[in-house]
Order: sequence, then C-alpha cells, then structure tokens
Amino acid sequence: MKLRGTMSIDHKGHLLIGGCDTVELAHQYGTPLYVIDEAALRQKAREYRRAFSHYMPGSEVIYAGKALLTSAICRIIDDEQLSLDVVSGGELYTALSADFPPERIYFHGNNKSPSELAMAITHRVGRVVVDNLHELKLLQETAYALGAEVKILMRITPGIETNTHAYIQTGQFDSKFGFPLGTKETIAAIECAARRMPNIRLMGLHCHIGSQIMDLRTLGLAAEYMVRFMAGLRDQLGLELAELDLGGGLGIRYYGDEEPPEPEEYARTISKTVISLCRQLNLPIPKVMVEPGRSIVGEAGTTLYTVGAVKDIPNIRRYVAVDGGMADNPRVALYQAVYEACLANKAAEQPTELVTIAGKCCESGDILIKDIMLPSVEPGDILAVFSTGAYNYSMASNYNHLPRPAMITVYRGISEIIVERETYADLVRLDRIPPRLAASRKTAAGNMQSAASR
Ligand code: LLP
Repeated sequence: MKLRGTMSIDHKGHLLIGGCDTVELAHQYGTPLYVIDEAALRQKAREYRRAFSHYMPGSEVIYAGKALLTSAICRIIDDEQLSLDVVSGGELYTALSADFPPERIYFHGNNKSPSELAMAITHRVGRVVVDNLHELKLLQETAYALGAEVKILMRITPGIETNTHAYIQTGQFDSKFGFPLGTKETIAAIECAARRMPNIRLMGLHCHIGSQIMDLRTLGLAAEYMVRFMAGLRDQLGLELAELDLGGGLGIRYYGDEEPPEPEEYARTISKTVISLCRQLNLPIPKVMVEPGRSIVGEAGTTLYTVGAVKDIPNIRRYVAVDGGMADNPRVALYQAVYEACLANKAAEQPTELVTIAGKCCESGDILIKDIMLPSVEPGDILAVFSTGAYNYSMASNYNHLPRPAMITVYRGISEIIVERETYADLVRLDRIPPRLAASRKTAAGNMQSAASR
C-alpha cells in the first residue's frame, strides 16, 4: 500500500492525513466522509504551474472543475493562481459565487444552452470553448444581442484513440465533442469564426483526447496533430492563431505500483513537441494551456467509511459492507475502476484476509473494491479508500436516498468542513405535493373519520 500526499501512520497505528487522525475525523464528522489533503492538492497545483511556466513561459494551467468543484476548492485554485474550466451554468455559478475571477474562467460543454451562453457573456468569462457549428452561430447571435465581443477557442477532435476506458476517450473522430480535425467543414467554420462573425474573436484551438492517460506519447501526439493543423490553417487561410489549449487527461495512481507521469514530465513532453515543431514549421509558438482535473485533486482525496456487516460465504468470499458505496463513488460501477484502501484504525497491521468491500445500495453491482487484502476486519472499523478526490463527489447521487457525505479539508493538523453533510430534510427539500394530492389525502382522512363516527 502506497501512502499518498501527507499521509502517515502514528504510534496508535492510525492513518493520519494533513496531520489529522482519520479515526477521530470519522467520529467527529461521521461517515462516509470525503477528506481533502489540502497540502497535497496545493502541491500538485504548484508542480503544474512551476513545470509549465518553466518549460513554456506564458503558458496557463486551467483546473478542470468537473473533477471536484465546491466554493472552497474554487478559493484554493484561485489562491494557487490556476485558471478554471467550467462546463455548465451550475459550475459557472459556483465559481462566480466563490468570487473566482471571471477572466480566468474557460467555459466548456458540447451543448451549452442559450441562457448558459448569455450568462458566460454577461459575466465576461475569459474564453468560451466552442464545440460545434450550432453553438458558434448561437454564440454570435447572443453576443450580438448583448452588444459584446466574446473570445473563443474552437474545440477540435484530433482523431486519436487513447488507451483508457472507452467512456473517457474523447479524441477519436467518432465523438460527440468538437470539430473533426482537417475536414473542409471544420476549416470553413474556423474561417467563419475568424473573419465573418463580428462579435466573435477567435483566439485559438482546443483539444482534449481523454482522461486517466498514463502514456505521455498520446498527449504529445495530440499536441503534434494540433500544431500541424495550425500550420495548415496558416498556409491555407493565412490565419495565425495565438493560443493552443491541449486539454487535460493526465492519469493518477489508483492502486498498486502504478506510476503516473509527473506534471514536470508532461510539461517537458508538451513543450518539446510544440516548440520543436513550431520551429520546424516556422510557426510562432502559441500560448499553451492545459486543463488537468483528476491529476490535481484525485490523489488528494480519501473517503472514510465505517464498516458494518461482515458476511462470510464459506469457500466463496467475505463481504465487508460499508456505509456508502456507488452513491458517493460511482466510478467502480461505471468504469470498473480499481481502488486501494486500508483500515484507518489498523493501518500498521499486516493484511491477513482477502475481502470484498460492498456498498449499501440495493444493487449487486454496488461493490467498491473486489478482492482486497486487509487486516482482520470487524464492524466499527474505519475504511479509508484512497484517490477519491476526482469524479467522486462531483458524480455522487442520492440513489436509495442516501444523503451525500460531508467534505472536509485537512491541513497542518486542522480539519474544516467545506461541504456539509446532506440531511434527510435536504432529500425532500424540492419535493412538492400538489394540492390535488393533498386534497385527496384530506378526503381520505375525512372519509375515514366520518366512517368512524357513524
Ligand atoms: N478538459 C476537458 C475538455 C475535459 O472534458 C476534461 C474531462 C478535462 C479537461 C479534465 O480531464 P482530467 O485531467 O480530469 O482527466 N468521469 C470520468 C472522467 C471524465 C472526464 C471528463 N472530461 C472518470 O471518473 O473517470
């Protein structure tokens, strides 16, 4: 088991994160509990910024908020001087309500609604990343109606298949995202945006080929395709674009001895490709942006659960059920993700038994970890599942009406709530009983009463 970020094990054999005892955290805040190691998150943000500004001065690191977005996370990201990628009016609202500087917001999405586009324009976000022709036209119309100019990037699908789960591949031509690279329709759309749309200012291109990518060569290849395409636009249209956003996608360690590339190697690969190719093609070096999400927050997150039922099926398996599951972490059911965990209250003990960690949702597929070696597990133990910072809370649901867990930061021995635990009252907060149903209940009650009095 490899400890992440600031994790350590104390003399009681308890897992510490950010100098806080996770067993105490579980008792203090309840479980399930998302714990964010703030120092680890800040460290990744800094590694990214340092590496990219070293290899590509003037470049920009944009945190992809879809991985994990809360008001406090926005503040940390701003504090670390990263920009922010949002993909919906809701994410934009979250960022704005946390006072994130709008000029450092990039607005993504493959089907932005007219009101989302108007919201982006009114709040003067830094760039809208335009996904398709329909959106381009709609954006021009909306900007015209609002009397504004919008700076955009156009999203290109470079035609690259990555070695990752099919659901998180986005660079292949058969994708719902972006304009396919090099087609005459795409070139016409780019020319139109650059020359015939008075309220649009085309700043550059964008691509994103997928997520949880462990092989830098594919990310380098995407950069190569994009630079070549930019050179082609210059040759064909006389159009020189100043910006190139290469998306996110760098993988993280989920289990075992996986060794994901560091931001430093990533920055080096990208800069080598972009700079040498630009020189070769006599193209001015564009401003490069990257949009990491998972690799900033993923390993900084740990989820704490309390063990409940432990059930043995002789000669088959031992199920250990915890008080959360696919509602707070749908990634196992969706992508067959593999997680690593430890018993936070027995972190120094040797693993002795093979168990399967089950969630508490009414689905056989609600398994968090199939086959993991742990020390002898008993009800009441605290299970810490690692690398849950990205795409856990942001994809969580209330399935089976489980309230979503609280989230805390731990930092230099101090823990603080950044998302309150949902309550049962929250679960029915938006429910309404139409008068018709309220009346029918009254009638039924009235009927019963009059029947009783007869
Ligand atoms: N930029 C764009 C345009 C994206 O679509 C994404 C992720 C990112 C950046 C950030 O990618 P990252 O660095 O986090 O890999 N729910 C899936 C992942 C979906 C990724 C969606 N787009 C999962 O849990 O694996």
